Amino acid sequence: MNFNESTTKTNLVRSFAAECQAGARYQFMSKKALADQQKFLSDTMKTLAKNEMAHAKVFYDHIIEMSGGNVKNISFEAGYPFEVSELRNSLLEESKIEEAEATNIYPSFARIAKDEGFDEIARSFQLVANVEATHHKILQYLGTIYKSNKMYKRNQPTEWKCSNCGNVKLDKEGWKECPLCTMTQGYIIIDLEKELRNLEMVKD
Ligand SMILES: [Fe+2]
Ligand SMILES: [Fe+2]
Repeated sequence: MNFNESTTKTNLVRSFAAECQAGARYQFMSKKALADQQKFLSDTMKTLAKNEMAHAKVFYDHIIEMSGGNVKNISFEAGYPFEVSELRNSLLEESKIEEAEATNIYPSFARIAKDEGFDEIARSFQLVANVEATHHKILQYLGTIYKSNKMYKRNQPTEWKCSNCGNVKLDKEGWKECPLCTMTQGYIIIDLEKELRNLEMVKD
């Protein structure tokens, strides 16, 4: 199949646009979180933004490579989601977009790429889908605890660690102000990997 006439080419352009937008929105959210004294949340959004830009680069490079380096401009109509509002809602809104990408959009783009004979591109779509599945879980979790004011409240004693000075305390609730360096609560690290794993175990 000729790449220029393939659906895969269109899907790559769509995906590139979507990843750039997600990368931009997450950077906006990172800034907003910092303004709201949520340093950990801000850092997490910055990491996710970096991931999205890396995905954009993968798709971008596929387009350049498959077009033999002589693609000038591709005109294209796409959806531009603007439903992102307050931080407390936008985390959950973004988690839904991630879920759609992870379970539906990218797996279907991977299938189409495979059918059209572009195995390497199919692989990229599937690998990105796997990352978006993790992004979905992270955003859903953070969105839920942030919205219910439980960012730093747990039912069980939890190890809280200050990202600034490393101070650690086992408690159900994180300190308002670090007893060692006085940094605000938002500096406390949430062990996302561990907490998400625990959640999965509760579900099983
Ligand atoms: Fe992405
Ligand atoms: Fe993502």
